[in-house]
Amino acid sequence: MKSHYDVAIIGGGVIGGSIAYQLAKRGSKVVLLEKDRLASQSSQAAAGMLGAQVELGTEVGPLFELAVKSRAMFRELTGELKDISGIDFGFVDKGMLKVAFEPEQVAEFQEIIDAQQKMGQPVEWMNTTEVIAREPEISGEILGGMYIPGDGQVSAPELSLAFAKSAAALGAEIREHTEVLSLVLEQGSVKGVVTAEETISCDKVVICAGAWSGILLKPMGIDLPVYPVKGECFSVLTHKPLITSTVFSHGCYMVPKRGGRLVVGATMKEHTYDRKVSFDGLATLVERAKRLLPQIREAEWEKAWAGIRPQTGDGMPYLGEHGDWKGLLFATGHFRNGILLSPITGCLIADLIEGKTSEINLSSFSPTRHLIVKQ
Ligand code: FAD
Ligand code: GLY
Repeated sequence: MKSHYDVAIIGGGVIGGSIAYQLAKRGSKVVLLEKDRLASQSSQAAAGMLGAQVELGTEVGPLFELAVKSRAMFRELTGELKDISGIDFGFVDKGMLKVAFEPEQVAEFQEIIDAQQKMGQPVEWMNTTEVIAREPEISGEILGGMYIPGDGQVSAPELSLAFAKSAAALGAEIREHTEVLSLVLEQGSVKGVVTAEETISCDKVVICAGAWSGILLKPMGIDLPVYPVKGECFSVLTHKPLITSTVFSHGCYMVPKRGGRLVVGATMKEHTYDRKVSFDGLATLVERAKRLLPQIREAEWEKAWAGIRPQTGDGMPYLGEHGDWKGLLFATGHFRNGILLSPITGCLIADLIEGKTSEINLSSFSPTRHLIVKQ
């Protein structure tokens, strides 16, 4: 007899992995289906910043609150996932600097500082001398910056693998090279998923297919407006670290990794699934990097890559149930912050599946705000 699962998760990126881990930990029978390899798309490309404050600026609404809560989960998660999977995902807790080059940015940062301090989040303004005392290789051209002690970073591919392998260790079934072609939707409920090989029977399905979520759902008449935003990055190698904490500026950020690697990101190009690194994108990034950190000129080139971020109409992820099809859930559209938001996404979706009331109000993230249903 063919197996029946409590939950089928579609997509083996950081979001699918986190949900599989939480569900397996709570005793659900889970299958995770990935069309390629685990963490082969956006979760592979990500710089790994946990930039709750650096990325979300003055928007201190529901997404900011979610991001801050998720960021707080990493310290415990690091030991937990290492114990189960043996993978150390490189959690670094050295804060971030967001620097200004233009007077308008100084004014903008002051507003961000005020808004975030009102929310009780530590952040302080540093003048040029103070920034350079902290990070001596940063350009003297900067006009100062925000220091955010709470924002950190991880290795995104390793975090994604740590989630999935921990889920497997706790009993989840992981199937790579298994593309889901459609869903079985009958009598108002989801009953299973269809792959090239078989139909897999399950009680619930979670769509975590990143920027491809809309494409997957369209043939079933479900119009979830997730669209792709390409991002290009490069990395260099140095013997001596050029910076100790992550440095962020308009149009360019730098994340110091283990082994003398420095990751520089990222471009933004909407509505393309093309993962080729363009000369123009790279040249722009290189120019910005040289302006921010002049000594990068001496570093050894390592490599360049691109990934496809999943974006939504209003910049908020889709977290929740379909509404009309019972048992169909979405966890996608995390755009620039999927690595940061992965721990809390796993917990929230597992809570929904278990029928638990969440302490977080999910109404702002409900997919029903944008879903066009044609049953
Ligand atoms: P993905 O990682 O794209 O995973 C989706 C998976 O679904 C893929 O593996 C795909 O193969 C699979 N799939 C698709 N269709 C099907 C199907 N039909 N059947 C089976 N499987 C399917 N976020 C941060 O928090 N911090 C950062 O510093 C950061 N930096 C970034 C830098 C760049 C250059 C980019 C591109 C992104 C960055 N992000 C960052 C964003 C982050 O990478 C994403 O938000 C996150 O990885 C999304 O995870 P996901 O699991 O939803 O998507
Ligand atoms: N969060 C960084 C990026 O998406 O490029």
